[in-house]
Amino acid sequence: MAKVLFVKGHPGTSATSISVQLLERFQADYTAKNPSDTVEVVDLYNDNIPLVDAEVLSAWGKFQNGKAAEVTATEGAKLARMGELADQFVAADKIIFAAPMWNFGYPPMVKAYIDAAVVVAGKTFNYTQTGPVALLGDKGKKAVILESSGSHFTGTPAEGYTHASNHLKGILNFVGISDVEFVTAEGVGQFPDKKAEIIAAALSKVSSLAAAA
Ligand SMILES: Cc1cc2nc3c(=O)[nH]c(=O)nc-3n(C[C@H](O)[C@H](O)[C@H](O)COP(=O)(O)O)c2cc1C
Repeated sequence: MAKVLFVKGHPGTSATSISVQLLERFQADYTAKNPSDTVEVVDLYNDNIPLVDAEVLSAWGKFQNGKAAEVTATEGAKLARMGELADQFVAADKIIFAAPMWNFGYPPMVKAYIDAAVVVAGKTFNYTQTGPVALLGDKGKKAVILESSGSHFTGTPAEGYTHASNHLKGILNFVGISDVEFVTAEGVGQFPDKKAEIIAAALSKVSSLAAAA
């Protein structure tokens, strides 16, 4: 029985968002095929995802300087929530992200989630004298990234602008998750007459991935 975590990196719903449509298709197909797996959803725009802000930095500083007793209740609550999110991420066997491209990046809550739950020293990687070491490798973990972008980048001179995909893939590789698949509904704004076709192709790829996951 696998643990599957869906990370919804979009503030909207499937009524208007293509990336959320991809996420919902994956979830529906996957759960139909794997009814006994555990499925959790972290909704980055509705759940409590603490930012690395002045309070979090202050609390980390107090821990590092042997002043843990001075951590305030609000600081402690933020760290505790970040710890919960990281534990949930670490426990997942399969992680499915869904996010739109916004200004050549993902929405800011995706970065907040990476900071809070994914790149966490002691849980997902460790610092060593020879550099950082991934802690989630060799565990058969898989990730899928479901995206939508207005423009088409693949095979064009602008291909390098897919910063967000490359960043998230790099982050997952950094913590030891090397099996990372993408489905991108690409060019939905650039080719309005092909939008339905692009979405249908992406949904079909999502169904194939969900069946094989
Ligand atoms: C704030 C914002 C910024 C965007 N920036 C880009 C961009 O940099 N490149 C691009 O190709 N499309 C961009 N788009 C278009 C979206 O990527 C496109 O509409 C995509 O389908 C959004 O995903 P969604 O349908 O899940 O909301 C942007 C859209 C919004 C709302």
